Amino acid sequence: MCGIVGYIGFRDAYPIVIKGLHRLEYRGYDSAGVALLDQDLKVYKKAGKVEDLENFVKGIDLKGSIGMGHTRWATHGEPSDRNSHPHSSGDRKLTIIHNGIIENYGVIKETLIAKGHVFKSDTDTEVLIHLIEDIQNATGLDLKDAVRVALNKVIGAYAIVIMSADEPDLLIAARKGSPMVIGVGKGEYFIASDATPIVEYTKNVIYLNDNEIAYIHRENLLIKNIDNSVQTPYIQELDLKLEMLEKGGYDHFMMKEIYEQPRSIRDCLRGRIYPQQGKVQLGGIKEYTEKLKNVDRIIIVACGTSWHAGLVGEYLIEEYARVPVEVEYASEFRYRNPIITEKDLVIAISQSGETADTMAAIELAKEKGATIFGICNVVGASIPRLTHAGVYTHAGPEIGVASTKAFTAQVSVLTLIAFYIAQQRGKITQSKMVEYLTGLNEIPNLVQEALKSNDHIREIAARFKDSTNCLFLGRGSSFPVALEGALKLKEISYIHAEGYPAAEMKHGPIALIDDEMPVVFIATKHSSYEKVISNIQEVKARKGHVIAIVTEGDTEVKGMADYVIEIPQTNEAFVPLVATIPLQLLAYHIAVMRGCNVDQPRNLAKSVTVE
Ligand code: F6R
Repeated sequence: MCGIVGYIGFRDAYPIVIKGLHRLEYRGYDSAGVALLDQDLKVYKKAGKVEDLENFVKGIDLKGSIGMGHTRWATHGEPSDRNSHPHSSGDRKLTIIHNGIIENYGVIKETLIAKGHVFKSDTDTEVLIHLIEDIQNATGLDLKDAVRVALNKVIGAYAIVIMSADEPDLLIAARKGSPMVIGVGKGEYFIASDATPIVEYTKNVIYLNDNEIAYIHRENLLIKNIDNSVQTPYIQELDLKLEMLEKGGYDHFMMKEIYEQPRSIRDCLRGRIYPQQGKVQLGGIKEYTEKLKNVDRIIIVACGTSWHAGLVGEYLIEEYARVPVEVEYASEFRYRNPIITEKDLVIAISQSGETADTMAAIELAKEKGATIFGICNVVGASIPRLTHAGVYTHAGPEIGVASTKAFTAQVSVLTLIAFYIAQQRGKITQSKMVEYLTGLNEIPNLVQEALKSNDHIREIAARFKDSTNCLFLGRGSSFPVALEGALKLKEISYIHAEGYPAAEMKHGPIALIDDEMPVVFIATKHSSYEKVISNIQEVKARKGHVIAIVTEGDTEVKGMADYVIEIPQTNEAFVPLVATIPLQLLAYHIAVMRGCNVDQPRNLAKSVTVE
């Protein structure tokens, strides 16, 4: 939530900063701003998208080889010009951009107002820059020390960058709970919320740790802890390609990412399955094999789409590894005094690796002595660093705000974990392992096949684009697929949609069904097929419109449903990986036909770093 970019070096900062803001716009897009220092410190900011800011500054002299920018997802204060970042001190010499929340800003603000500070915005961020100014005025400390003293007084989460009109060779960056990456160039440094604005300039990066402050000059950088002790930076090489950040000929990132799934699932499985040997190998959790052999219970914590992946994981792990699994919303888990013991294994799932509630759930489980695994997409993010072990999904950067390829990659990893545990606990025979892994290895090809229904799905979308409600129903592991289909539709098209276990329909939702209501069934030929057929008949009897995802060659459902979308035959274990594809496409086409911004749906942000 909120994207931040900074530059100090020998080039013009503005083009680097503005391009970086476009890359980070997925993190929030209700306002944007830049600060540039040449002879003077200049700040330009505007409610709206980064593009609106660009139009606003057109024709202005934007010189300066030190600068920073911010794209906002509002927490304190409505999106408006005055609440946009950067925020400046009273004397306008200092300016700050911030991602996160200063929880005790109210108390600090009152004290500062009593001392005569005047605030121009409703934000918590402005309070922090006034506090720094106040400390300097009161103590005569230089800016570096004043920032450190101020950060010791604030409670909350932050990634900040500070510039001063008096310091033309200094950017100060600090983090606690919000991500921050520093790119190391020759005579220049880059700062950003993630590596995407940096990758085209340098591959050498430092992931700042919590409670660290970086004092960045053109020719050198010093990192200190908030307690003033000097830290040794660890420079690592980025494994990120520039093409991954471009639309590559697609109209939207979401469509590109849907179409990337054969590749992203293949990358996720690569080097981890050996079908002929019937073997799963997961280097990231290998050290914990003994733990997995003896674990009594697994708790999965996640939010949103990642939580849906967790539900699929529950079916797979219970079915194949025979270990009890509970799947929890991280936001509920963290606040309800859950019973966790040292015997438990907690698996945290997060695409971004930065979700505040998931991080808090991990901290809680860690305090209680549980072993924590992470399933994350963004390498080097906070969650992989908080967990004991984990498995990266390797889906590549996901830029569309609605999660697509990250979901199928998370499900792929959970499938691997389920079979890995099953094998370690002796719950599956070698020949069955060979059979399952051979099937899993085929999934990228089956996803490729499923994508061929795109034109047919576009036609179905045209028929239902003006619907106001939609139900998604499935049984077994197709229930979380139904939830995910409903979430995709509602978040990008703003059509009200609900996912239910198909049998639950009779316990309430059936009242909604009339001749206007589209009902999407996941009705593949597997264990609950006959039961789902009965549910389809119940909907048809009430004149609902049925769109059914069916196994290729199915004739029975075809005879009843208004529309069918065929997916290739696969083992029941892998249906979620294939059946999700048409639902993503359906949501996408409906949203495009309704004129919605599919990559940046209203009110959302990709990385939810506030609770
Ligand atoms: C929906 C979506 C969200 C995220 C949720 C968790 O398409 O993307 O529901 O899944 O905000 O985010 P991560 O996985 O980054 O923890």
